[in-house]
Amino acid sequence: MNTICLLGLGYIGLPTGSMFALAGKDVIGVDPSPRVQAALQDGQASIDEPELQTLVAAAINSGRLRVQTRPAPADAFIIAVPTPLDPLTNRADLSYVERAAREIAPLLRRGNLVVLESTVPPGTTRDLLAPILAESGLRPGLDVFIAHCPERVLPGRILVELEQNDRLAGGLTPACAERAADLYTAFVKGQIMRTDATTAEMVKVMENTFRDVNVALANEFALIAERVGVDVWEAIRLANHHPRVNVLRPGPGVGGHCIAVDPWFLVGAASDAVRVIPSSREINDGMPRHVLGRLNTLVAPPARVALLGVTYKAEVDDVRESPALRVAELAVEHGYAVRLCDPHVRPDTPGLPAPLLPIEQALRDADAVVLLVDHRAFRELDLDLAAALVSHKRILDTRNALDRAAWRARGFEIGVLGVGLQARAHAESPSA
Ligand SMILES: NC(=O)c1ccc[n+]([C@@H]2O[C@H](COP(=O)([O-])OP(=O)(O)OC[C@H]3O[C@@H](n4cnc5c(N)ncnc54)[C@H](O)[C@@H]3O)[C@@H](O)[C@H]2O)c1
Repeated sequence: MNTICLLGLGYIGLPTGSMFALAGKDVIGVDPSPRVQAALQDGQASIDEPELQTLVAAAINSGRLRVQTRPAPADAFIIAVPTPLDPLTNRADLSYVERAAREIAPLLRRGNLVVLESTVPPGTTRDLLAPILAESGLRPGLDVFIAHCPERVLPGRILVELEQNDRLAGGLTPACAERAADLYTAFVKGQIMRTDATTAEMVKVMENTFRDVNVALANEFALIAERVGVDVWEAIRLANHHPRVNVLRPGPGVGGHCIAVDPWFLVGAASDAVRVIPSSREINDGMPRHVLGRLNTLVAPPARVALLGVTYKAEVDDVRESPALRVAELAVEHGYAVRLCDPHVRPDTPGLPAPLLPIEQALRDADAVVLLVDHRAFRELDLDLAAALVSHKRILDTRNALDRAAWRARGFEIGVLGVGLQARAHAESPSA
């Protein structure tokens, strides 16, 4: 399989296509987005990911990655289009996958391989993708090979993980899994595990659901700690000394394209069987409102508040499903004068509920500061500058990322998510 047509040049498709190109495959990268097209025609990666710029430039310069708006015949097709949540039904919106499949079907030839990389509810490859491709007249699993090979990479480490992670080749038939595994050996150094397509789909969403449920547990511990006067961060540190315990980190909620979304794919698959998963989603989705409540104990509207961080996690530029953004929306709704600050986010990013300002402008005359994302830039903030700029020295740390003693030494009152008042009093007492 020498020619690959890859649909969707986003966080997943662009690095994947570049890796295949540099491994010697001829890659036709397809994306209808004018923004993606414009960036790639200038040889620029359209997303901010370490080393991606160099990789994409090398792939384009090698002549093996071509970018266009429509798919073309190839030996293998890879679909890496979005699979968002339909906000009305909380079910997977599979319209992008469906459209991509319909674009591929007329181009298919006997012996082709079609791989779905997008994260989907269990059963999608078998029940949605295969029937659409069958409209070509070719028989799925016999004339055309079909597989689901989900992505498990971590934004911020995509290039390393694309190569090193073990991955799944879930075939419609064992022969389909084999063809898919062969394709990825071009650059994957991890183990390629063969299975059936529906199992591969289930495994991918189980992995993200596991993370979501465990973050929800950590968040629930944080809420309890605040009530009973414990520092949850200290409690988690101690609990994690147990050889079989690994409590994750609490925070202002869960975001991103995957962990906040994929658990719903399981809920939709068996709505009468699920209890833990929807409860966990509810807990995590409730955290931004809890953060607002904590802010309210520091300062009332219409105070000026500087919200540090907009992305869904540290050191990425991605604001999709970001709980920080949700906190900002709630703060605006409640009448706070909100300033946003995030060195990774462009000021023209759609959907920002308040102005995005450089750090000095965000902090100047602020009545309170809330740390929402633990970007290094915030952890290493010049505290003397911060102390000189803000009007009222009050800060809420939702990530336990700040050096509490250092901030207190500059006269700040510091609140920390998951830390009850009694715990704070203990920490501040001279004997503590
Ligand atoms: N971002 C991640 O970290 C990550 C990790 C694992 C899995 N995934 C999954 O991978 C899939 C893609 O995610 P992403 O983050 O790369 O999305 P993305 O939004 O960054 O990129 C998707 C791209 O597909 C393009 N597109 C839409 N319809 C198309 C079509 N018919 N033909 C060609 N291109 C089309 C869009 O213009 C967009 O540029 C999703 O299912 C996601 O859940 C993402």
